Amino acid sequence: MERSSRMKGRNMRSRGEQIPSKTEKLYLKREIGLFSAVSLIAGTMIGSGIFMSPQWVLYYVGSPGASLMIWTACGVLSMLGALSYAELGTVIKESGGEYIYILRNVGSFPAFLLACSSIMVTKPASIAAISLGFAEYVVASFYQDCPPPQVVLKCTAAACILVLALINCLNVRLATSIMNIFTTAKLIVLLVIIAGGMALLAKGNTQVFHNAFENTVTGFGPVGVAFYQGLWSYDGWNNLNSVTEELKNPEVNLPRALMIAIPLVTCVYLLVNISYFTILTPAELLSSDAVAISWGVKVLGTWTWIISLGVAFSTFGSANGTSFSGGRVCYVAAREGHLPDILSMAHVTRLTPAPALIFTSVISLIMIIPSDFNSIINFFSFTAWLYYATTIAGLLLLKIKKPEIPRPYKVPIIIPVLLLLASIYLVLAPIIFSPRLEYLYVVLFLLGGSILYIPVVRYKWSPKVFRSITLHLQLLLEVAPADKNL
Ligand code: ARG
Repeated sequence: MERSSRMKGRNMRSRGEQIPSKTEKLYLKREIGLFSAVSLIAGTMIGSGIFMSPQWVLYYVGSPGASLMIWTACGVLSMLGALSYAELGTVIKESGGEYIYILRNVGSFPAFLLACSSIMVTKPASIAAISLGFAEYVVASFYQDCPPPQVVLKCTAAACILVLALINCLNVRLATSIMNIFTTAKLIVLLVIIAGGMALLAKGNTQVFHNAFENTVTGFGPVGVAFYQGLWSYDGWNNLNSVTEELKNPEVNLPRALMIAIPLVTCVYLLVNISYFTILTPAELLSSDAVAISWGVKVLGTWTWIISLGVAFSTFGSANGTSFSGGRVCYVAAREGHLPDILSMAHVTRLTPAPALIFTSVISLIMIIPSDFNSIINFFSFTAWLYYATTIAGLLLLKIKKPEIPRPYKVPIIIPVLLLLASIYLVLAPIIFSPRLEYLYVVLFLLGGSILYIPVVRYKWSPKVFRSITLHLQLLLEVAPADKNL
């Protein structure tokens, strides 16, 4: 049945485009070069966080000095993560990021749980949060004197998600060009913020750093939550690993792109934070709705719109990167039999994983209805670090069990060990020291996923009606099963 539908899918006529022949294999092409790889990582990392989280980090740790330490530590953690992922990505060459690494190194059950939570929760939640950030800044310029109505905000966020889904389904090259253009644009705006801060620092405006550690709050709980806020801004460092099958020359380009993008983003974030602290007092930062705009009002005056535009570019680009990679994780998990078959198919001529992209976008649309930015972030970081910890544990197992396999890039074992300890702290500290309802939801969700595992994966439960729905969707979307590109 699958074979016949594959053939049907491949021969469908579609607006004069070239149709692959019956014998030709269908797979996603390698279209991402080094530049696009760097902008996929940096462009996803730089999104809403650097414009919204600095006041929250300050709120939890109490002083500018401690805030800067948290931002530095988050950069170091991301770098340790990236070095470990560079080894994983060059040994296991399939796309799918954490999902495929956990599947190959740890086991099918945790990989299934990851697939469920990443596809149903973390990826759509991050797309929803970033699109809400996008909406807040775009809409704010039309409502100067009053807060914008919720319905306008949510409709703008929904429009952003729909446009992204369309771009990503249409063409990989279009999606990567958008990534490149938007990453460049957001870096320019961040450079404006850095330059403004540096100019004032040079003039001797350094008072905020005189008592930089005054009022510092210590304690495992607040520091853990402050990390969640900072790490949200750095999240996306692992994105390239979700699309390794589409990367040109991955053995070379994967480690190289990680080692360019992450130090770049870390330096930019630190300098931007220093600039915020130079221009705004801690009290002003804490009471601001949007740090970057408060900064703009003080430094750029009537030109503050440049910052709003920059945030809009930044969030749109980051949501694009997240939806690009999120779609691929869903596609790979379906290919491995952990999600419905239809999600593992690609458009026969456009060669994009359209069903997976559409599915991720629909869940993201649902998520914007109840969402508020901050709870999404705590929820997201908790779940994400749970899986990063599992992935890193898998890397350690691989290093111990199979020391002999060829490794184009080898990470010293101390790095994953340190990262594993840090991620255990990151997962446990907030639950123990400042428990929230969101963490309970994650646990309930995982329990729900465990119940599904036995019928769906072990016994391959698939009622007849699913098969006919798959066939109809295949004809409607013009998609067919795709092979791995290794
Ligand atoms: N770091 C991004 C931001 O500050 C969030 C990226 C979330 N996406 C992801 N694929 N992890 O908005």
